[in-house]
Amino acid sequence: MERGTFSSKVGIVLATAGSAVGLGNVWRFPYMAGENGGAAFFLLYIGCIMILGIPGMVSEFIIGRHAQANAASAYDKLSNGWPWRYVGYLGILTSIIILGFYAVVAGWCLQYFFASIAGHLKGDTAYVKDYFTSFSSDPVKPIVWGIVFILLTHFTVVKGVRAGIERASKRLMPILLVLLIVLMVASCLLPGALAGVKFLLLPDFSKVTGKVFLEALGQAFFSLSLGTACLCTYASYFSKDTHLLRSAGQIALLDTMTAILSGLIIFPAAASVGVRPDSGPSLIFITLPNIFQQAFSFAPVVGYVFSIMFYALLVFAAFTSTISMHEIGTAFFTEKLNHSRHRSAWVVTIAASLLCIFCALSVGACPDIQLLDLPLLAFCDMLTANFMLPLGGMLTCLYVGWYVPSKLVRDEFTNQGTLRGRYFAIYLFAVRYVCPICIVLIFLHQLGVL
Ligand code: PHE
Repeated sequence: MERGTFSSKVGIVLATAGSAVGLGNVWRFPYMAGENGGAAFFLLYIGCIMILGIPGMVSEFIIGRHAQANAASAYDKLSNGWPWRYVGYLGILTSIIILGFYAVVAGWCLQYFFASIAGHLKGDTAYVKDYFTSFSSDPVKPIVWGIVFILLTHFTVVKGVRAGIERASKRLMPILLVLLIVLMVASCLLPGALAGVKFLLLPDFSKVTGKVFLEALGQAFFSLSLGTACLCTYASYFSKDTHLLRSAGQIALLDTMTAILSGLIIFPAAASVGVRPDSGPSLIFITLPNIFQQAFSFAPVVGYVFSIMFYALLVFAAFTSTISMHEIGTAFFTEKLNHSRHRSAWVVTIAASLLCIFCALSVGACPDIQLLDLPLLAFCDMLTANFMLPLGGMLTCLYVGWYVPSKLVRDEFTNQGTLRGRYFAIYLFAVRYVCPICIVLIFLHQLGVL
């Protein structure tokens, strides 16, 4: 069977950045930063992106582009009988778990998008809170929205790499950037917005604890889609002349910019109405609609349009990411089990939908669905971002750094010697020593050993 490829460099960067830029930037980053000390968290996050994220991304790219195969076969290809394919399996499993809980939040965004068009988000603080509680605890609605989101993803993914994934990313990513910039400018022009900008940009290191480190690491990996073999799968559609390091840098930059822009939409608006932005995962569903109304009370129409644009932004960002999570499993089942793309996509859709149902219920109608005292949704989020992704990323670095012959790694890094590869030595040092050691230290600290 002929494998798909992305058609151009722009397509490669936009599709991969589409995967990276998602609810992780617009939903997860602002509340994580809000809870973990604003700028101090932000600095740690940037550090993790630069020191661990970029080398990790390049490693996944090298494996994927070299093998031109789905995640499990890609890790298997150079493994000489060693069980490295399990790193690929881990990535596939992680991506299906993420798709399951992510679709719940994406479904909320879809509901909020329509609710803002219909003008249902207008009202006092108690009303908006009530709106969220009664919607999210409905036994049916959040499940329906979540599954609708997975189905939209499904029907895009089955169209294939170019006609589905690349086309959706090329259309949505530019709209997303424009929306982000317009919303950021409007938010920063509000009276009293400066305090919010300071919260994001002036660090308070007294807030930094071991937990904050782990959260920053998890956020960096989650946000870059690193450790799920997602980048490895996308890289298998890259062309042989794609500059891997440059692409990783561009994608990391776009991703970080989006997180900053999202922070600059949310924190200034919150500061302008005197609300602390540390209200956790429901920040954008309970706190924000209030903030938008109060901040734009001088011109309610602007508030109305602002709110529609904001939830449209979330839906688009989430969509290009769910596509990538779905593709990891779809590519795997298609190539490994020799099923048609249609059939394979259904396997992923059904598995993720089942998890989505339980995750949606755990934060709504059935709060008893818990693991380790956390609602299933929060548990899946914590398990994947703080443990499975850093573990997948670390194993990938060890694989490329120590196991794969460095000549082969160098050839991929330099596109068979056509690039100078000035940073190759630094890259190799990072994947051999820096990434694994840092990740192990952070894990040990979290387990209380250090
Ligand atoms: N990077 C995406 C985001 O920021 C989430 C994601 C994680 C996508 C893992 C694919 C794989 O929302």
